[in-house]
Amino acid sequence: MTRYHEVYKSWLDDPEGFWSEAAKDVAWSKPADQIFANVDGLDRWFIGARCNTCYNCVDRHIEDGRGEQAAVIYDSPITGAKRTYTYNELRDEVATLGAILQDLGVEEGDRVIVYMPMVPEAVFAMLACARIGAVHSVVFGGFAPKELATRIDDSTPKAILSASCGIEPGRVISYKPLLDEAIELSTSKPVATLILQRDEVTAELVDGRDHDWQASMAAARAAGKAADCVDVAATDPLYILYTSGTTGQPKGVVRDNGGHMVALKWTMDNFYGVSPGEVFWAASDVGWVVGHSYITYAPLLHGATTIVFEGKPIGTPDPGTFWRMISEHKVTALFTAPTAFRAIKKEDPDGNFIKKYDISCLRTLFLAGERADPDTLHWAEDQLKVPVIDHWWQTETGWTIAGNPVGLGTLPVKYGSLAVPMPGYEMHVLDDAGKEVARGELGAICVKLPLPPCCLPTLWHNDERFRESYMEAFPGYYETSDAGYMDEDGYLYIMARTDDIINVAGHRLSTGGMEEVLAGHPDVAECAVVGIADQLKGQIPVGFVVFKAGVNRPPEEVERECVQLVRDKIGAVAALRVVMNVPRLPKTRSGKILRGTIRKIADGDDWNMPATIDDPVILDEITTALSGRGLVA
Ligand code: COA
Ligand code: AMP
Repeated sequence: MTRYHEVYKSWLDDPEGFWSEAAKDVAWSKPADQIFANVDGLDRWFIGARCNTCYNCVDRHIEDGRGEQAAVIYDSPITGAKRTYTYNELRDEVATLGAILQDLGVEEGDRVIVYMPMVPEAVFAMLACARIGAVHSVVFGGFAPKELATRIDDSTPKAILSASCGIEPGRVISYKPLLDEAIELSTSKPVATLILQRDEVTAELVDGRDHDWQASMAAARAAGKAADCVDVAATDPLYILYTSGTTGQPKGVVRDNGGHMVALKWTMDNFYGVSPGEVFWAASDVGWVVGHSYITYAPLLHGATTIVFEGKPIGTPDPGTFWRMISEHKVTALFTAPTAFRAIKKEDPDGNFIKKYDISCLRTLFLAGERADPDTLHWAEDQLKVPVIDHWWQTETGWTIAGNPVGLGTLPVKYGSLAVPMPGYEMHVLDDAGKEVARGELGAICVKLPLPPCCLPTLWHNDERFRESYMEAFPGYYETSDAGYMDEDGYLYIMARTDDIINVAGHRLSTGGMEEVLAGHPDVAECAVVGIADQLKGQIPVGFVVFKAGVNRPPEEVERECVQLVRDKIGAVAALRVVMNVPRLPKTRSGKILRGTIRKIADGDDWNMPATIDDPVILDEITTALSGRGLVA
């Protein structure tokens, strides 16, 4: 029997009562005066409350007797390193690091950028900021200096925490030159950096600005320094996480302290069905929202054990890595992106590597970040013999909007659907005029305002872009930018993004951002980047470039430069490997590039000749170009 319907109704009947009850699972130094209110035009939760997120993630559990329990397990098949940190050790690391940050001049409310690989120090860095009331902004290690510089200029950090290198299969990436270049490019300059020296690379430090992580920790410990938890307002920002928008300028999603804790803590029992003391593994990266919520914060808020995994689903060393991790660390719940399973399935279709390990401790597999294709879902179910739960969320929300709540009791599964909305989310599917469509009909998926706790109250220093991006298209609703439908039972089906965001291996990327880079190539007159279906990564970007008149260089040379330009300006993670020169781009008579039609041609979907097309022959040219690269499904 599921308790979902009863719990959802209790929220619908009394939203503030529901969240006020959930807030009892969080330790506050002062309770809220008001559970919810619109303050200065922005919706806010737990107004007047005071708290500290690091205290709730660390110290509180030590006081409750969990000091010797494992808090963080670091397992790095890529370097061979393994280490477990108890809650006591975690507090020592975090309090010491917090004191170092304070000595570097970081005060409550100051921003700190964390640009690190998947090492436990990345988690310590986030918690140390939370401890001293600083606002962290983690930047994914795969982003290029220019992307980092954009984030430095927007968040104006006082300090940057980084490492000497990240390690990808077959190559070591020195971070320090990337960091130095980013600081060079940015207008805002951090006063200090703290660099974790790894065995593989020793970074050169600049006098006066750069500090050695290990040496600073040793000195702070010797001096007996440890930062206390600083009381902050529940509505104060805990972090800024930049995510792709429709332009090259990313959106700075703001997360507050109070609402974030309440919602995440609620999910651990009620959605994921995980108890304190159990091991929860989110195989993601701290640079993404899944990493923020389910590597760092939620498991630790819950007194569970979390895992920092520095590796890949395949190749580190083989497609059995996930099963080795599960069996060795007694993982109860695994959370990852479908692309990881597609990669494993491709290399080990019969699941021979699974048979080598005892993974009977695993109760549930959770998937999110991109559409889970039924093949992969069935394969995972057959091989793992546990429920596979697809759930839908966004950087903006920080936790699941819809899914099948294992903790409340699983509802009947409908393949292709994410199941039902969580308490806090009243879902509506709207047409272009903002009218509710009939059940089963496609439309824009929207959330009736207000958004629940944890969802973004605004974008960093940009309330206007926040309103424009999410609130204006459908007054009274938050626009998710996902299109789909709801069936008679209230189950949601997510079909596609309504904007130019694409999802590559679970990574959210803006084709608009890539177009801005391609347009910067001196030989390119105009361009389009389209996300097309890919068996492994879900989607991959493909670029089309029209050369300026008079360019008579070999097209392959310019195409190669375009690919390199995107790697240099955005990062390898953009995964743009194909750029092709075409004579013209298909457009409507008003000049809009028909990206949707190009995508349909490549994906082998049915498409109709757009009535407003400028010249139908151009679509034949595009089809020929795509076929020439083997890119038509
Ligand atoms: N630092 C530097 N470079 C990085 C990086 C990082 N943290 N992460 C990825 N890259 C690079 C890769 O090395 C690769 O470079 P290349 O073009 O020189 O080969 C490029 O970015 C593209 O990476 P990716 O899309 O990850 O593809 P891949 O072919 O290396 O691996 C998978 C494919 C499926 C194994 C991999 O995407 C994966 O593990 N996905 C899991 C998804 C996930 O965790 N998503 C997070 C949201 S839940
Ligand atoms: P991100 O902000 O990186 O988490 O990306 C959010 C977007 O990823 C959503 O708006 C969806 O388009 C897509 N997404 C996330 N989870 C799912 C899912 N389970 N099924 C389909 N799409 C998803």
